[in-house]
Amino acid sequence: MRPGNHTIDEQRQGEAIGPRPGGQGGRKLYLESYGCQMNFSDSEIVASILAEAGFATTQQEDEADLILLNTCSIRDNAEQRIRHRLQRLKQGKRDNPNLKVGILGCMAERLRDQLLEQEKLVDLVVGPDAYRDLPRLVDEVEGGQKAVNTLLSREETYAEIQPVRLDDKGVTAFISIMRGCDNMCSFCVVPFTRGRERSRDPKSIVAEAHDLFAKGYREVTLLGQNVDSYKWNVDAKGQVKDPEEPVVRFAQLMDLVSEVNPDLRVRFSTSHPKDMTDEVLEVMARKDNLCKYIHLPVQSGDSDVLKRMNRGYTREWYLDRIAAIRRIMPDCAISTDVIAGFCGETEEQHGATLSLMREVRYEMAYMFKYSERPRTLAERKFEDDVSEEEKGRRLSEIIALQQEHSRERTAAQSGKVYRVLVEGPSKRNSEEFQGRNTYNTVVVFPKQEAQAGQYVYVRATDHTAVTLRGELITEAEAKAEGYIA
Ligand code: 5AD
Ligand code: SF4
Repeated sequence: MRPGNHTIDEQRQGEAIGPRPGGQGGRKLYLESYGCQMNFSDSEIVASILAEAGFATTQQEDEADLILLNTCSIRDNAEQRIRHRLQRLKQGKRDNPNLKVGILGCMAERLRDQLLEQEKLVDLVVGPDAYRDLPRLVDEVEGGQKAVNTLLSREETYAEIQPVRLDDKGVTAFISIMRGCDNMCSFCVVPFTRGRERSRDPKSIVAEAHDLFAKGYREVTLLGQNVDSYKWNVDAKGQVKDPEEPVVRFAQLMDLVSEVNPDLRVRFSTSHPKDMTDEVLEVMARKDNLCKYIHLPVQSGDSDVLKRMNRGYTREWYLDRIAAIRRIMPDCAISTDVIAGFCGETEEQHGATLSLMREVRYEMAYMFKYSERPRTLAERKFEDDVSEEEKGRRLSEIIALQQEHSRERTAAQSGKVYRVLVEGPSKRNSEEFQGRNTYNTVVVFPKQEAQAGQYVYVRATDHTAVTLRGELITEAEAKAEGYIA
């Protein structure tokens, strides 16, 4: 999944995955994922746990014994979409009375028993920290009962579970480095659905990266709700736990993963402006395989709104972080998340978001209307007082401005030579390949001799709003012209 110009859950809705062999038993699992990259990464852990229990994944819904939806709660429309999907599953259950249906992920965590009561076809409800319990829960369900486990954990990172890779291209993969979130942004449901923040053992992260490289993968994205607060061997107060072992924070982790192989590209998501250090930027600047792309969600350009959002930074602080990126990596691409019409947002405060966007000129943005979520700080403390219509108008202005900036950015990247990691056939034309440059911009070029998983050199000769188009050149030519790694 890759950034586009719409919301995350609009881009990735209900992608099914597989097929992958399971163990003994011949049962078939149809697994559909919604929401963020973390959810897609979790689905790979779920597939791995259930493969051990004898389930092979299938892409054929009608041959499944078990259908699992890995769900998202971030905005109300994400949940509505899944409710509609459940309605459509009713027919499947009529056709096959043995079919079992389960809800995983954030909606499972948020709604628990309510889901079993309201949606009669749901047999199984399992939260994001309880996937190890799936084989037992599935057995219960097969015995004719309903099963629920939504316990959140302070330790679970699924560190040693080898995810079953569900993206069949075999070039790019996600590695989850931490789970949960302690930030308590006032609009956000994540701390309630995914629990407290915990980091995964760096040794298991590096081992996973090595394994992926050996299998032919050439890009990994390190995933966490707030990667900048990754920490290992140090407690919440900053005290070292084991003096014999090194302390690993995000900067050191990136360094370690970048050492796996110079041909393994490393990306990460998501950064938090209040925690992003210069040290991380300096490590990125030093190494070509640490991609020059940062997703730095701003949410709003107005300091008072940011305060109500409990984001922990001001407009000035945020712009200082942008200045640090530009100072340390002048060419780094930057993208963001923006929320339109948060509680109490005035026209002037909306204008501050637009002016900040003009100042930063993001390559790309995910843009949303504020959607009130149950139990969050904002729901309890503030009134959701910007009308739907007004939220819509503000969002359209934000989108229109971003489209201008995205076009401008793509145009500025045109005319240069890039080292591109080939991902596979282009979506539009099977005679062409597509890959990405370090800035995460899609580059399309004629297939010729290129193969997925290879690095090629492309001279970008043309562009659309968000895509570059170009021609393959040799390494010697690229070196002579000076390429962007
Ligand atoms: N309403 C609208 N957008 C939200 N996001 C998170 N919670 C909400 C909400 N309640 C957006 C933020 C976040 C992204 C993943 O989703 O911009 O960075
Ligand atoms: Fe959706 Fe957030 Fe859960 Fe990801 S963590 S699935 S974005 S609610």
